[in-house]
Amino acid sequence: MAVIRERFLLLNNPRELVPTRQDLLQGLREAEAAICTLTETIDGDVLAAAPQLKILANCAVGYNNIDIRSARARGVVVTNTPDVLTDTTADLTWTLILAVARRVVEGDAMVRSSQWSGWAPTQLLGADVAGQTLGIIGMGRIGQAVAARAAGFNMPVLYHSRTPLRSMPPNTHWTARPLRELLAESDFVCLHAPLSPETRHLIGREEFRLMKPTSFLINTARGPIVDEEALVEALREGSLAGAGLDVYEREPAVHPGLLSLKQVVLLPHLGSATLRTRVRMGMICVENIEAVLAGRPAPHRVN
Ligand code: NAP
Ligand code: GLV
Repeated sequence: MAVIRERFLLLNNPRELVPTRQDLLQGLREAEAAICTLTETIDGDVLAAAPQLKILANCAVGYNNIDIRSARARGVVVTNTPDVLTDTTADLTWTLILAVARRVVEGDAMVRSSQWSGWAPTQLLGADVAGQTLGIIGMGRIGQAVAARAAGFNMPVLYHSRTPLRSMPPNTHWTARPLRELLAESDFVCLHAPLSPETRHLIGREEFRLMKPTSFLINTARGPIVDEEALVEALREGSLAGAGLDVYEREPAVHPGLLSLKQVVLLPHLGSATLRTRVRMGMICVENIEAVLAGRPAPHRVN
């Protein structure tokens, strides 16, 4: 914010609140550049209310919140913040894998509640992670960073992605699989594809039926990739063992069925939430805005 205040005339001070639609429509009226986050839906009407806008710098790598076609039609450059958040989000994915498999949240609650009476042979038994099969859907930057970490756990990696990988890091053996086979063979299924018309509800009733009853679903990508109603049903029926979620179908609302399930670990969309990474994401937004306002190409243009 210090850099922004120094280099630009700031029209609207950001707040830790999701702006209302009215805030957006009014707030962008005179703006030549805007930084938005994934919680703001920037559709054709919002863009129409921003006639001076030259660049919309999304402070996120995913940009499903923006109507890219309308932006292009209006000559508004849209940018995102790739790479700097890859490791941070991959780390959080592993946090969820380990937390859900080893019942970390339940254990913490037991100790805090003073209900813990000491070590016991069958207390809070979880699932092994090392040596199990990791399935990754969407083998891009974050998917590959998650896969790379699996080497330390001696886990075979299966992946399903839109475009086959052209190369892999040395000494890695990631195996491409059709989606159905990946779901049937994996012990941990991690989602890392962007939200698009093709990936909305990619994982629903039929897909949960294919998964092993001992397997776990981890979603740090976008909530609507999973049919949350079907996920709750599958968890209740025992078609899968648990889920680790950072994102939700109707954020910030969470399906009430998830809240009562102990085999689920729920985080409030924290994928990139470290101080260093958020500063780097902010600085990428500034870099892109400076480039466009100076008539140069934006380094992270998505449209
Ligand atoms: P990326 O490098 O673009 O990777 C996405 C991968 O998904 C690409 O390999 C892409 O294939 C593949 N893909 C696209 N459509 C697919 C489909 N229909 N089926 C299977 N695979 C498909 O993006 P990234 O930087 O890894 O980020 C991935 C997503 O993570 C973002 O879009 C964002 O929504 C989410 N994210 C969440 C958090 C969080 O806070 N929880 C933080 C960062 C990112 P192609 O090569 O063909 O495009
Ligand atoms: C966060 O969800 C992002 O897409 O950066």
